[in-house]
Amino acid sequence: MRTHVVDHPLVAHKLTTLRDERTDSPTFRRLSDELVTLLAYEATRDVRTEQVDIRTPVTETTGVRLARPRPLVVPILRAGLGMLEGLVRLLPTAEVGFMGMVRNEDTLEASTYATRMPEDLSGRQVYVVDPMLATGGTLIAAIRELIKRGADDVTAICLLAAPEGVEAMERELAGAPVTVVTAALDERLNDNGYIVPGLGDAGDRMYG
Ligand code: PRP
Repeated sequence: MRTHVVDHPLVAHKLTTLRDERTDSPTFRRLSDELVTLLAYEATRDVRTEQVDIRTPVTETTGVRLARPRPLVVPILRAGLGMLEGLVRLLPTAEVGFMGMVRNEDTLEASTYATRMPEDLSGRQVYVVDPMLATGGTLIAAIRELIKRGADDVTAICLLAAPEGVEAMERELAGAPVTVVTAALDERLNDNGYIVPGLGDAGDRMYG
């Protein structure tokens, strides 16, 4: 597994406002949308393309277009929904699947309450979006399901990650074709499983 922390002043600026407890829900949603577009620029660096011949007003030339099969984008409900538009703006032809997952706030274990995506993901590149990588339980379960269905390249785009979650993913998904792209790797998890300094509960701040 590969982890990429995007080091960019615009990302750092927007993330700081996102962390601020005074930021209201509409602003939080707008900033999440803008941030995911910036992260997506890095996350799609290896998106598969194929050669295409075109004619400009001047001459014939060769360019590229997104390869088939189309990439699949999967937001993890609820909070991942706030990152969907920012990604499909850059990948407008992508197919979109959905996974509804929730973390038990006492045991911190993730469970899946809804799945809507193709059964067969053979040979597909998949982009999973979820703002928080805390213990890693949610993303590990989601990515296992994607790989079980045949996905051969999975990129998780997160706004924030905790070192504990990244380590858990490296351990549980060792050798799997997985990349994590995040705006920041924070200090740690607290006793309640919240990322520190973090930004609180992303789902509540977006939709609560
Ligand atoms: C949050 C977050 C991730 C998960 C991260 O979702 O959006 O999905 O927790 O935690 P983990 O890495 O420890 O598994 P939550 O369960 O609060 O659901 P919500 O998006 O519906 O608010």
